[in-house]
Amino acid sequence: MKATVYIGTSLDGFIAREDGGIDWLVDPPDSPQDPEEDFGFAEFFETVDALVMGRNTFDLVRTFDVWAYGDKPVIVLSSREVEIPEERKNTVEWMNASPSEVVRRLEKRGIRHIYVDGGDTIQRFLAEGLIQRMIITRLPILIGRGIPLFGPVPHDIRLRHVETKVFPNGFVKSEYEVLGNGSAVSDGA
Ligand SMILES: NC(=O)c1ccc[n+]([C@@H]2O[C@H](COP(=O)([O-])OP(=O)(O)OC[C@H]3O[C@@H](n4cnc5c(N)ncnc54)[C@H](OP(=O)(O)O)[C@@H]3O)[C@@H](O)[C@H]2O)c1
Repeated sequence: MKATVYIGTSLDGFIAREDGGIDWLVDPPDSPQDPEEDFGFAEFFETVDALVMGRNTFDLVRTFDVWAYGDKPVIVLSSREVEIPEERKNTVEWMNASPSEVVRRLEKRGIRHIYVDGGDTIQRFLAEGLIQRMIITRLPILIGRGIPLFGPVPHDIRLRHVETKVFPNGFVKSEYEVLGNGSAVSDGA
């Protein structure tokens, strides 16, 4: 099982405002987007068998006019039951399980590549050593506060830079391979 993160952040490392807003991401005023440019998303999405996202991300994407995930299975993680809209019940499923248990269950179904989304969810998968690749697009904006992509880690997580692509509108997309765990994080003592 391979798990990939594909996400956009502000330069100061946030994936959403404190209230969950992503206006700066979908309609960045100073980085006009070529309507034909998808930053490689469609090509990446083709390679994915299923999505695994946190409840907060699902609560956002369910409000979008367009469902972006086609017929691919979407697993929504939450400790509390997630109500799935009737029209999504054939592809969307709630799970309450640890990242390793989620991976185990999906592997049993023959799923080989998952797209992990949502800051908290990504952090939990990283902490369990279950992310192999991260594709992070940084937007040229500071939003000061918000929901962070990364947080505390139980140990260093070593990465290998694979490539970086700079787009004409200033978006910078970097791909990293997760190499594995480094030494335990010191408390500074
Ligand atoms: N910039 C981007 O490209 C991008 C992409 C995706 C999302 N976003 C934004 O990011 C925000 C959401 O990120 P987030 O960090 O707040 O949260 P998130 O990862 O979407 O959701 C976190 C929630 O997922 C549940 N969860 C995660 N792992 C679990 C597990 N193993 N078992 C049970 N429950 C689990 C928990 O829900 P319960 O508390 O219900 O148990 C947890 O509170 C949204 O505002 C969205 O707009 C931005």
